Amino acid sequence: MTFDFDTPVNRRGTDSAKWNVGPTELPMWVADMDFRTAPAVEKAILDRASEGVFGYTTFPDAWYGAYIRWWRERHDFAIEREWLGFAVGVIPALSTAVRVLSEPGDRVVMLTPIYSAFPAIVEGNGRKTAEVPMLRSYESGRPVYSIDWDALEDALRAEHTPLLIFCNPQNPTGQLWDRRTMARIGEMCRAHGVTVLSDEIHSDIAMPGKRCLPFAAASENNLAVTATFLSPTKAFNLMGLKTAAVCAADPELRGKILSALGDLAGANVFAAPAAVAAFTEGGEWLDAVCDYIFQNKARVDRFLAEQLPEIASTPSEATYLMWLDVGKITDDSGKFHEYLRRETGLYVCPGTWYRGDGARFLRLNAACPRPLLEDGLDRLRTGVKKYEAEQGIRV
Ligand SMILES: Cc1ncc(COP(=O)(O)O)c(C=O)c1O
Repeated sequence: MTFDFDTPVNRRGTDSAKWNVGPTELPMWVADMDFRTAPAVEKAILDRASEGVFGYTTFPDAWYGAYIRWWRERHDFAIEREWLGFAVGVIPALSTAVRVLSEPGDRVVMLTPIYSAFPAIVEGNGRKTAEVPMLRSYESGRPVYSIDWDALEDALRAEHTPLLIFCNPQNPTGQLWDRRTMARIGEMCRAHGVTVLSDEIHSDIAMPGKRCLPFAAASENNLAVTATFLSPTKAFNLMGLKTAAVCAADPELRGKILSALGDLAGANVFAAPAAVAAFTEGGEWLDAVCDYIFQNKARVDRFLAEQLPEIASTPSEATYLMWLDVGKITDDSGKFHEYLRRETGLYVCPGTWYRGDGARFLRLNAACPRPLLEDGLDRLRTGVKKYEAEQGIRV
């Protein structure tokens, strides 16, 4: 079957958070794709809507079965039914887990740059973010990140440090983590009594031929110390539906999170049918959308190499996000993102939202039809060239 990802979907005036922008602006910021979801998911939602009765709902066996099968077949992770519980979203579930697994004032470790909601929920709950900046080096002019193991160990061994929030794959860098790295992190966490909350919401968007291995599947030890946060929403573009899951093998850990989720665990009537359709019938569409996204990412890289060699993207095997090093142009990506938006209408995320070395990065969302991508690249070139001319930057 072929799918049309090229034809733009008009999202202006649809109450889309991403497209809540000026009439000539082009949003390439929040992690939301400009594609319709998989036909099977659309059909499941329309079928459920046509029932016309929307009373309280439960979770059918099919919901558990869909998660179990998908993670076994796609991610080599053998989930047992009782490990799973529903959540309305990854961030509400993570925030609940932080509250129930730590005390006010405790430290929560994370590798930076990192998705901005993690420090926000930690600090919003009166805990402290213990940032471990990743080490950046360059290979063929492109930024590459690795873990500063000594700094990580120091952070995990510090007193009052019950949690690590891990992002697999990493947002914003798009890094896929390998088994050895994750097993080593898991060993350290176990040695220091730290529980891992692994956010795997982006795990189904990977470069063709690559697979995302869940943190909990990297070793027996990892399984014991981890709660995983799963969802079909990023890969199938369903964020507005609010459907996710918490998965933990350890009964005590699972019990604490699921009982604390309490009233947050009530689902809307479309949550289960959409997840079931995505995970049972969405595979072919997903492979096609990943193929399209990684062609888009390759197009951005060719464009940068030919037209804006002063900007380098971070090599990435997962997510539709691109982490662009603009350090040759600015050391304040916050101001630079405002400039690009004002001068060209292109709205990308400033790296400063993600802490770590984000002041020299922009995050660009490449999950859009190719005409929009080309428009975004034109705007980027116009904005960068104008900025360089104004600032007297010679590259
Ligand atoms: C790593 C990561 N986790 C969680 C979320 C949001 O999850 P949810 O909408 O399920 O709360 C996002 C959204 O961008 C994300 O990038």
